[in-house]
Amino acid sequence: MPGTVIVGAQFGDEGKGKVTDFYAEKADIVVRYQGGNNAGHTVVVGDETLKFHLLPSGVVQGKRILIGAGVVLDPRVLKEEILHVREKDREVRLGIDPRTHIIMPWHNLLDEGRENARGATKIGTTKRGIGPCYADKAERTGIRFEDLVDGEKLKEKISEFYPIKKAILEKAYNVRVPFTQEDIFKEYLPLGTEFRAFLSDVSLEVSEALEKKKNVLFEGAQGTFLDNDFGTYPFVTSSHPISGGVSVGVGIPSTKINRIIGIVKAYTTRVGFGPFPTELNDSMGEHLTEKGNEFGTTTGRQRRVGWLDLPMLRTSMRLNGFTELAITKLDVMSGLDTIKVAESYSVGDKKIKFFPYSNKGLEKAVPNYEEFDGFEITGDEKKYSQLSAGARKYLSFIEKELGAPMKLVSIGPGRLDTVEK
Ligand code: IMP
Repeated sequence: MPGTVIVGAQFGDEGKGKVTDFYAEKADIVVRYQGGNNAGHTVVVGDETLKFHLLPSGVVQGKRILIGAGVVLDPRVLKEEILHVREKDREVRLGIDPRTHIIMPWHNLLDEGRENARGATKIGTTKRGIGPCYADKAERTGIRFEDLVDGEKLKEKISEFYPIKKAILEKAYNVRVPFTQEDIFKEYLPLGTEFRAFLSDVSLEVSEALEKKKNVLFEGAQGTFLDNDFGTYPFVTSSHPISGGVSVGVGIPSTKINRIIGIVKAYTTRVGFGPFPTELNDSMGEHLTEKGNEFGTTTGRQRRVGWLDLPMLRTSMRLNGFTELAITKLDVMSGLDTIKVAESYSVGDKKIKFFPYSNKGLEKAVPNYEEFDGFEITGDEKKYSQLSAGARKYLSFIEKELGAPMKLVSIGPGRLDTVEK
């Protein structure tokens, strides 16, 4: 460590929760820097499966966990998750930055209203109010954690924004608003009172911890190609999952981050709409969906599945500067006759090695595949050298193409199903 980031290299759902839990053992603090409860992080410890949407996965290891200014926080979901963790007799040592923006009930309605109004250009959002909350932040009409914990400010802000949101919902989206501003205040005031104890200047706390050489793990949500600027816009989320997002999402200089771990799923998946050059709409796709249990943790939606895509991963490398890689779900590839990897794309008579910057470019991109012989994963491998030659060939190819070492291989959902190199 000390300043380590975990970033999804593809479209999210790479298995960051498991890898974060694995590395959290050596961390003093685990911090989320972007996104909200649109994320779904699954951690399996022994017979227990814990699922989180908002809390940093470090909570499982009883670490100090922080929510940075770049996150959008739904206090109703936070309450549920804290209860869920405490029911399992685990401690919640949480700090929340006062600058963190709060998801209000109107954000969920706006998310749904906008999606329905989009028709054919639907994004397929999680409908958790993420986009509208970030939009209010940029518009400077948001409610922050510092307001939530201060009853008077909360009342003032709800009174200011509620009538406008109600008018937009009713007039622009034809959505009936089922709550009054008093209802919202009654629901949110006790949440603010309960969570006041969590208030911490996360920027300051993290800076001081790094100064003292403590190990701080920054846990990304979603993935590189869902980044609001560098993803497949508009089929993206509203935050910055890329490694640069840590700096603005926590409030620390980028020079404080010295280890950037790219999490690569052994194949590619995507939830929601948007371009996907290596997508498999055949029996192989069905096989990977079933074997990989590719159903969303947050919405339960079936994920779209495809082969590994090197133009995508090279671009991810360029955007994030991975110092090392971790591959997940390698066991799902076990037993196939042949494995394909998109090595480049052809656009007309041009061969390209990177992801095109526009969706229009992506539509024209035809993947050129390199084929590998299938391999077996038994699940008993404990060391890298115990992985079959075929599996190591697949991993070496990825390492060589991306120019970063593969330090961790996940061969199953459990904490122990992990091979370090
Ligand atoms: P939003 O973040 O709910 O606005 O959704 C925007 C897009 O990001 C949709 O395509 C979602 O399916 C996708 N998305 C959001 N969060 C995740 C995630 O944690 N994993 C994978 N896809 C996600």
